[in-house]
Amino acid sequence: MQSPFHKPVMPEQVVDFMITDLGGVYVDCTFGGGGHAELIVSQLNKEAIYVGIDQDEEALRYAKARLSQYGQVVYKQGNFRDLQKILEDCSIRKVHGILLDLGVSSYQIDRPMRGFTYMADSNLDMRMDQNSALTAEDVINEYSENDLVTLFKDYGEERKSKLIVRRLATERKNKRIKTTTQLRKIIESVVNPKFKIKSFARIFQALRIEVNQELKCLEMVLPQAIEALKTGGRILVISYHSLEDRIVKQFYKQLENPCTCPVELPECVCGKKPSLKILTRKAIRATEDEIKENSRSRSALLRVGEKL
Ligand SMILES: C[S@@+](CC[C@H](N)C(=O)[O-])C[C@H]1O[C@@H](n2cnc3c(N)ncnc32)[C@H](O)[C@@H]1O
Repeated sequence: MQSPFHKPVMPEQVVDFMITDLGGVYVDCTFGGGGHAELIVSQLNKEAIYVGIDQDEEALRYAKARLSQYGQVVYKQGNFRDLQKILEDCSIRKVHGILLDLGVSSYQIDRPMRGFTYMADSNLDMRMDQNSALTAEDVINEYSENDLVTLFKDYGEERKSKLIVRRLATERKNKRIKTTTQLRKIIESVVNPKFKIKSFARIFQALRIEVNQELKCLEMVLPQAIEALKTGGRILVISYHSLEDRIVKQFYKQLENPCTCPVELPECVCGKKPSLKILTRKAIRATEDEIKENSRSRSALLRVGEKL
């Protein structure tokens, strides 16, 4: 079924790496519209189990309807930072594969009222989980100027952060900043018009990461995912920007080579053993053909590890 909800990236590669046992147990931590899920589940046996987790109720509702013919799927609304608890609730101990396709779905971006895009006028929301407390409006209006500068620099890599925040601070004294259009105008008023789209994208990315605590959640889920994998089970992470990818790459490397012995020692005495084999020495990228079909895949980086 072709879905308008979200086109899964690197579909063949994900299916090939993920499935090691047709009757196995698999966890999709970022179920979204169920795009990857459908491709994977349709290959599995009836005895297989596929746990689909998403914090977005709307996404889960859509995916449920889409995958209703597959009895193997267990639907869980929740945050993947609670992976261990979610698996315990499903009475699952060990799994064959775990997928994390990070960030937001095209569907979330295309719904202006969710506030993820600078291309439409809407409230500054940006919550993936509509029940969570913090919105982008809260961040913009309530964080200190210093915190906002750090946020835009660290999560958006925006060089004009200080200028943007100075203007923002003046504006918010007069009137609460509530909409994407208000924020756009503030950014536009201080950056070079030639680069304004890039600045919009950077500032919106930074806010989204903060509102959803994206990097913190990623750091929390990775060790839980490794713990949940059987020997020979695989972890697949697709990231869309360097901040995420760096966390994944370093985490994999640390598990592949945990030895803490000084380099001068002829052999390892610390006793720390590798627990992951990296299957993608360099991150896998989408092909030019896929990028033509699905522009979102341009920035996608897939890294896969196998539990030892
Ligand atoms: C890129 S989309 C996944 C698309 C999916 N692979 C597909 O093919 O349809 C990412 C999804 O992960 C969800 N998500 C992001 N961070 C999450 C978290 N910490 N916990 C649970 N879900 C999360 C988002 O709500 C979004 O629906």
